[in-house]
Amino acid sequence: MIDSEKSIGIFDSGIGGLTVANAVLRELPNENLIYFGDTAHLPYGDKSPETIQFFSKTIGEFLLFKDCKLIIIACNTASSVAYELLQEMAIDKAIVVDVINPVVDYTINKGFKKVGIIGTQGTINTGAYQKKINEKNPNIDVVSLATPLLAPMIESGFSNGQISKLVIEEYLKNPMFIGIDALILGCTHYPLIKKEVEEFFHNNKIEILATNEIIGQHVKKIIEEKNLNRKGSGGKHKFYVSDYTENFAKATKLFYGESVDLVKLQITKE
Ligand code: DGL
Repeated sequence: MIDSEKSIGIFDSGIGGLTVANAVLRELPNENLIYFGDTAHLPYGDKSPETIQFFSKTIGEFLLFKDCKLIIIACNTASSVAYELLQEMAIDKAIVVDVINPVVDYTINKGFKKVGIIGTQGTINTGAYQKKINEKNPNIDVVSLATPLLAPMIESGFSNGQISKLVIEEYLKNPMFIGIDALILGCTHYPLIKKEVEEFFHNNKIEILATNEIIGQHVKKIIEEKNLNRKGSGGKHKFYVSDYTENFAKATKLFYGESVDLVKLQITKE
């Protein structure tokens, strides 16, 4: 039996998952969060599936040890290779939510005809989005591009400036995106550059899917359906990182104010 008073656990390689955490708290402001940013091992995008599975499993064990009622894999790269693994680990102790399946369902329901996806090398290599979308609707034309510079760029604080504008343009001018009616930002870091992506496509009617909002609504639905809403008001949050970085500290303060509780907790790969 899952206890509704327990926290929601959430993890990513770094600050990307904070965009998801933020969206979840907008929908569910009374929940307590435990966030883990695996800053010692980012970017996840260029690591092998085995390595990502190892890190995800270790963080998953930690969040289960902390008695989380629901665990969000707030990382597309980890969602594409470690979702089933974490579900097996959690069994009936916690609900596990990935960030790919809810976005696939949203895409199908919207009736798009041609969909573009950008994400890390790891996410794009697995073809997870494409497979899942086309399993449900083979008529949707899906094109995907690995954009490996984006997550490290955002993590280092380069967004909404000249450098990010150039990098984003370089990727998005790829002819494969001609005629798309939606672009999935398939990395949880990318909501932080959503504005710049929108500016690039400003003349076209393209829906830019910043997936954090879709995940926030999805998590709310699950929590309500399963009657797992925390009863108290105004949640408390705790942030763990595997390595202390200035940028992570800055980003958490930006999202959650000066009094952020940030703890360093090492995880190692033997
Ligand atoms: N934010 C992550 C994702 O959604 C990982 C980015 C990275 O560390 O490469 O894929």
